[in-house]
Amino acid sequence: MNQILEKMHEIGIIPVVVLNDAKDALPLGKALIEGGLPCAEITFRTKAAEESIRIMSENLPELLVGAGTVLTTDQADRAVLSGAKFIVSPGLNPKVVQHCIDKNIPVAPGVVTPGEIEKALEFGLKVVKFFPAEPSGGLAMIRAVGAAYTALKFMPTGGIHPGNAAEYLKSDKVHACGGSWMVKEDLITAGAFDRITELCKEAAQIVKDTRK
Ligand code: 3PG
Repeated sequence: MNQILEKMHEIGIIPVVVLNDAKDALPLGKALIEGGLPCAEITFRTKAAEESIRIMSENLPELLVGAGTVLTTDQADRAVLSGAKFIVSPGLNPKVVQHCIDKNIPVAPGVVTPGEIEKALEFGLKVVKFFPAEPSGGLAMIRAVGAAYTALKFMPTGGIHPGNAAEYLKSDKVHACGGSWMVKEDLITAGAFDRITELCKEAAQIVKDTRK
């Protein structure tokens, strides 16, 4: 499997980040590293996304930085130019997926249904996002659909929290979980980076405990 995807599996929980101001990118990146979750999926929901990816990638080589909520090929290009090492989308947009494959950048599009999964398989993908995880049936749904598609791994995101992350991570169908609970917007805007580090440490411990 691709090295970046391997690394995401190793980290186990991928912080899904909304940054409103690129000035927060550096302290946030440092907090993630210190907390033992050296990864950030920076969502293209704000104007600060591109610049934040650039700042993190240029200054924090030990942080694995990717782009989330990538809806267009143009956003994928801007993310990669800024230094993103992986692309995540909420749904499976064939144009975006093909574009990322052509550019040789790992892409995890969001899927829920067997039809969407089969599209992902046609592209040769090994890992997909399962989104929104909890409202779409959670682990029970992953187990049910996953049984039919033995080679595919899922990154459940949406509704994952410290109380259910371990259960997801224990499943051999789950590649890694995505979640925003440790990097909530209000914590970032309040500059509560120590608290973010603490929450990351707790999350990293959950990963460790499930992989003993
Ligand atoms: C998102 O796209 O915002 C992610 O699904 C995060 O979901 P969460 O806030 O429930 O972790």
